[in-house]
Amino acid sequence: MIRRWSICLLIAVATLNCLSRCRAQPARVLASLDASQAETTIAPEIYGQFAEHLGGCIYGGLWVGEQSEIPHVNGYRKDVLEALKRLQVPVLRWPGGCFADDYHWRDGVGPRKDRPTTLNIYWGGVEDDNSFGTHEFLGLCELLNCEAYVAGNVGSGTVEEMRKWVEYMTSDSNSSLANLRRQHGRQQPWRVRYFGVGNENWGCGGNMSAQFYSDLYRRYATYVRDFSGNRVLKIASGPSGRDVPWMDTLIRNVFDQADAVSMHYYVLPTEDWDRKGPATGFSEADWFSVIRQSFAVEALIEDYEQILDDVDPERRVALYVDEWGTWYDKADDRASALYQQNTLRDAVSAAIFLNIFHDHADRIRMANIAQVVNVLQAMILTNEDSMVLTPTYHVFEMYRVHQGAKHIPIEYASPNYVLEGKQVPSLSLTASIRNGELNVSLVNSNPQQDLELELKLVGYKSAAASGRVLTAESMDALNDFQDADRVHPAAIQDISLQGNSLRLTVPAKSVSVVTLRP
Ligand code: AHR
Repeated sequence: MIRRWSICLLIAVATLNCLSRCRAQPARVLASLDASQAETTIAPEIYGQFAEHLGGCIYGGLWVGEQSEIPHVNGYRKDVLEALKRLQVPVLRWPGGCFADDYHWRDGVGPRKDRPTTLNIYWGGVEDDNSFGTHEFLGLCELLNCEAYVAGNVGSGTVEEMRKWVEYMTSDSNSSLANLRRQHGRQQPWRVRYFGVGNENWGCGGNMSAQFYSDLYRRYATYVRDFSGNRVLKIASGPSGRDVPWMDTLIRNVFDQADAVSMHYYVLPTEDWDRKGPATGFSEADWFSVIRQSFAVEALIEDYEQILDDVDPERRVALYVDEWGTWYDKADDRASALYQQNTLRDAVSAAIFLNIFHDHADRIRMANIAQVVNVLQAMILTNEDSMVLTPTYHVFEMYRVHQGAKHIPIEYASPNYVLEGKQVPSLSLTASIRNGELNVSLVNSNPQQDLELELKLVGYKSAAASGRVLTAESMDALNDFQDADRVHPAAIQDISLQGNSLRLTVPAKSVSVVTLRP
């Protein structure tokens, strides 16, 4: 017995030794920015959200119905609504995802009691009573004061159905469809800014070849019309992950008929769809893999930009990353619901993505994280009448300052974060300016090493600097229904301005936003 205790003691001492040794000394980084180089506007829509009829996203997450005992505003969950308002959501994509290509809009209009119950063939075969349809979605966009992005059905829907949906939503005429909308309770047409012509049509949206979908895109898009002054931007649906040949065929065939082409990009720790890796309780290797793949989106964006530059050097056509985020193994029986927990790792990954989108803001004019509530890398998790804001929510809240601001390039050489012979940058920086306020966001992806940053400011005199940091003790720190506030932003203490230099510590595994004022 005594022997066993002494062995345990030895192991404990060795572990403590290692912890103090393994925690590397802070690395020093010099960076500089020139505020006069602020040029490209960061489209607010880069901070877009995505809501699909999937698991608890719509039903229970956004919509509880008018009879619910959960506090609501005309059926919309009140707590979720308030939390989303704080994010200043710029655009919301709906009804899918894969669901969009099996969605028939007429099922979701008219008196709710008369709407049919349909089966959700993609997500668990569950029944959908269609109580959340076109009016409920566009009503939600109005409450959130955001643009609507409607994804149309190319996979199993007709051209006529798509054409009429747009007229129903946006026409102010005396047509039967506009009057049907009025009969259903909405007098004025809605503004629908974005319309997706299909979703993942290489897969769940019809298993089409790039050429076949391109041809269909041209046909369907012809009938997506502007009514009563509504100008709708048409989006062609691109690949998920790396599929340069598919994207190449699509772009070359549709660019003259599209306002944007989309791409999807999901991060799986193992990169294996059959065994993705856990959302919590993961190893540092899993952390590293998520960070590496988050940075890797940039190379793919550049490849797709190159194709676009070739056919559209004026940059009329945008690239929308209209689904992105982390995707982990199912943790419980909500498998078909894609419910997953969200940790500090997701927050760091999200911030890396957003920084990259800023760097490509001249082409990337929308991105929609998947998904807004209870699904994949969600902003919010709900359980009955309780709600939790995830670490990723906090990143979106902290980064609001960049929406619509002018991007300022930053020069810096990041130290490497090395694990098992592989390396990624430790540091990711972004900056923007709006109304004289300059915001710098900083990500340290290395869970073992703080960074001491000195940022030289050219063309900007700052009198005051303050900021917030999001970090935690462990890599998989999370908020849950037992402790909803474990991971939250805190004020940065050691921040200083000396002449034209900003100095601060960027802690290991953290996301910070620093605000400078003249
Ligand atoms: O976001 C979940 C699913 O991922 C979407 O329905 C689909 O478009 C993608 O494959």
